[in-house]
Amino acid sequence: MYSNRGLSILVQRSVEPIPIYEPEITTDDMRTVEEAIKSGWVSSKGSFIDEFERKFASYIGKRYGVSTSSGTTALHLALLALGIGKDDNVLVPSLTFVSPVNAILYCGAVPKFIDIDPENWGIEPECIEKAIDSKTRAIIAIHLYGNPCKIEQIQEIANRHNIPLIEDCAEAHGAEYRHKKVGLFGVISCFSFYGNKMITTGEGGMCLTDDPLIMEKMRVLRDHGMSQSKKYWHDMVGYNYRMTNLQAALGVSQLKRIDDLIERKRRIASLYSEFLSNNPNITSHHDVHEDKRTFWLYTVLINGLDKEEFRDMTIDSLRKIRIETRPFFYPVHTMPTYSKYQKEKMTYTDSIWFRGISLPSGPLLKEDQIELVSSALSDLCSKVTR
Ligand SMILES: Cc1ncc(COP(=O)(O)O)c(C=O)c1O
Repeated sequence: MYSNRGLSILVQRSVEPIPIYEPEITTDDMRTVEEAIKSGWVSSKGSFIDEFERKFASYIGKRYGVSTSSGTTALHLALLALGIGKDDNVLVPSLTFVSPVNAILYCGAVPKFIDIDPENWGIEPECIEKAIDSKTRAIIAIHLYGNPCKIEQIQEIANRHNIPLIEDCAEAHGAEYRHKKVGLFGVISCFSFYGNKMITTGEGGMCLTDDPLIMEKMRVLRDHGMSQSKKYWHDMVGYNYRMTNLQAALGVSQLKRIDDLIERKRRIASLYSEFLSNNPNITSHHDVHEDKRTFWLYTVLINGLDKEEFRDMTIDSLRKIRIETRPFFYPVHTMPTYSKYQKEKMTYTDSIWFRGISLPSGPLLKEDQIELVSSALSDLCSKVTR
């Protein structure tokens, strides 16, 4: 238990609300979107689509980009292009935003939840190896909160078993595993450009691949299954998962400064780590080994908790002083809608999620705001008794 008397001074100082995330939209961004509007190409045809696909694929280092209406539709498209269907098993971590699990279920396939690595919070290679069986048709590895998972080991396992690997990089644009960008390891890698992502197109997503046949298939499926050579001829049942030219224009403009955005977010993370370093009740979020994290949401663990009550009270106390934070994702297997898919043991997942809080992490955050959030959190967490 704790009291929040010490926060009254902060209440007075915290006049401006501090949101969890605010995207940076510059006048250049607006000018580029205006150019797309003035061109008349406001739907999913227009030069910005091709430019965004080419430039984003080249930024990551893959051959082809297929833009989509969201990160979720990118994942669905990826699974469909790999032929995932009814009753196929797809390995996926449970500690994630629900999107990849839903994409598996849209295909009529079965998610098989896998435990995480306690250091990077991503799907754990040895647990993957143990869970693979004759029904396993794909693996989705997620780089959670901008932390690269052990993707090289996972790729090796996937190759050895001849199972396609999809990388979900929705939260990890520009993150690197041993000096290689995430997104380079999967047969298909999927990105989101939602408003709080490293770069945004409002809503939007993209699949990247080196395989021309997979690229073709995704393009056809994205556009109602329409033949690429015969207008209004449909060889398969497809979807409307297209991105608009207006969204792509914003993407092209944002992409120009992606490295600057990444560096600013890494600086925000290092300030948080510095300000929180003296509190033994908080495990902060930091780079490990030779990997480059991008700190999509700077997420800390409160030590010494055995359930989520204290964490939720902390979030509520911060909300009262106009600091917006978020709980860690609820593991998908803990929700009744999905619990029937849990077969494996979830040792680390079950021991971490209720201790996690994501702090304000947008690129516009200022140093005094980071200091304020850190001292408010530190003050609240100093009351944890262990
Ligand atoms: C890990 C992960 N995968 C997929 C998505 C889906 O992206 P979108 O919201 O663009 O559909 C998200 C969204 O935040 C995510 O965090």
